[in-house]
This record gives sequence, structure tokens and C-alpha cells, in this order.
Amino acid sequence: MKKEWFEDWFSSKEYLDVYNHRDIKDAEKIIDLILANIKLNKNSNILDAACGNGRHSILLAEKGFNVTAFDLSKTLLNIGKKKAEQLNLNINFINADIRKFFINTQFDLVINLFTSFGYFDSDEENFRFIKNAFSMLNENGKYVLDFLNKNFVKKNLIPHSEKIVNDKIIIEDRKIWDNRVIKKIQIISGREKAEFMESVKLYSDDEIIHNLQKMGFKVDKLFGDYNGESFNKNSSGRFIAIFKK
Ligand SMILES: C[S@@+](CC[C@H](N)C(=O)[O-])C[C@H]1O[C@@H](n2cnc3c(N)ncnc32)[C@H](O)[C@@H]1O
Repeated sequence: MKKEWFEDWFSSKEYLDVYNHRDIKDAEKIIDLILANIKLNKNSNILDAACGNGRHSILLAEKGFNVTAFDLSKTLLNIGKKKAEQLNLNINFINADIRKFFINTQFDLVINLFTSFGYFDSDEENFRFIKNAFSMLNENGKYVLDFLNKNFVKKNLIPHSEKIVNDKIIIEDRKIWDNRVIKKIQIISGREKAEFMESVKLYSDDEIIHNLQKMGFKVDKLFGDYNGESFNKNSSGRFIAIFKK
């Protein structure tokens, strides 16, 4: 069977070069924002969905929370596991597909950060995890989604950009097609050339809120960036939403 774009891309050695600005410093900002807006006890259970290399999980475990984190990419999970071991942190890392993930733990917080949503073709598949998250949250639990802001992306899409990271030339071409933002990524390293793609469905803030309200969630707080600016449909770079049950 043909591999899906997200299986190849997030398992590649190039992903962390292309997103080298999405580092621990960047993670600290949204974790600070979340913790400033959600009251959690020291021993709270947190689930980091599509955790990648665990940069948010590590910060949360350092603060003393019980962290479970899952991702499809073994490559990224292994980086997270090694880092956690070095820091003597106990994080429950699980290799799983977000469409199938469900465990019998009651969480106080579920986080889904940095555009780890909208990868699949159908709405049912895209929203399935959030529906499951509702059942995995205790009665005062919160769900946080950090997604792109559709209106902003449509107005501000940069069709072409190039950068050099770790001696690699990274060429990114973006377009909007069939209500998705599609990115072609070419990485040239010496004589080697690799090509990947991303394809994310452009759900608007209203569509997301409507779908989550149907599941039983209520909007708690909305932000438009990691500094905690309030969300503005036209000018916010991100759609960061805290939902409560
Ligand atoms: C943009 S990255 C964000 C990672 C992490 N949340 C962070 O902020 O660093 C998207 C993540 O989604 C994961 N992912 C993609 N498809 C997935 C799937 N079907 N099931 C679980 N995780 C998936 C990727 O492996 C990747 O780690």
C-alpha cells in the first residue's frame, strides 16, 4: 500500500532541520501560556497527542506532571525517549496512530500542539481523536488545540521560500488547493536531493468550534499566538483554543 505523506516526512532525518525553529524555546512559550490559563495539580495526568520528539512532554514532566505521549513516528519518539532518559524523566512514550489511540486513563489535560491536525482526507478521521479525547478527559479536563488560522493562511501564504540549515538547502513551495494547504519541501545536501510534502486541511475556527461543541466541548479560551494575544479571525497567525467539558 502507498505510504501516506505524514508517514515518510515525520520519519525522515530532514524534518527537524526544516522545523529547527520549533525547538524547546518555542515549546516553552506555549507551555507557559497553557499553564498560565489552566489550573493543574502537581500530579495531574497529561496526554501529549502527536508529541513528535517530545519537546512539550519533556517540559511538562520537568514540572512534575505525569505525562503520556504518543506519535506515529518512531524516529521522533526515539529522540524524545533518549532526551527523557538523559534528564531522568519518566514519560510514557507510545507509538500509535492518532486515529486508533485510546487508553483507559482519565487525563486532566490533552494537548495537540503545532498543527498536528487536519492531515487526513475525511472529517471523520480528522476529528476522531478529539472525540476520543473527550472520553479520556476527567470531568474538569481540558483539551488544547494549536492549529493554523485558515483566514490568515489564505491571505498570507508565502508561495516560495528558501533557507540553508546545517549546510542543507531547503526549498519550500506552498499552495492552497482543494481547501488544503499543500507544501512541497525539497532538501538538497551536496549531491543528494530529497523531496517531501505536507497536506493539511484548512478548517476554520468556526468549523473546529462547531465540531467540538457537537462532541460536548465548550470553548474556554482562545488565543492568536504563543504570547497570549487574543484570537482575531483576520490577523492571528495561530488558532490556539482551550476547550473544557
Ligand atoms: C508538526 S509535527 C508536531 C509534533 C509535536 N507536537 C511538536 O510540536 O513538536 C506533527 C506530528 O504529528 C505526527 N503524526 C502525523 N501523523 C500521525 C498519525 N497518523 N498518528 C499519530 N501521529 C501522527 C508526526 O509524526 C509529527 O510528530
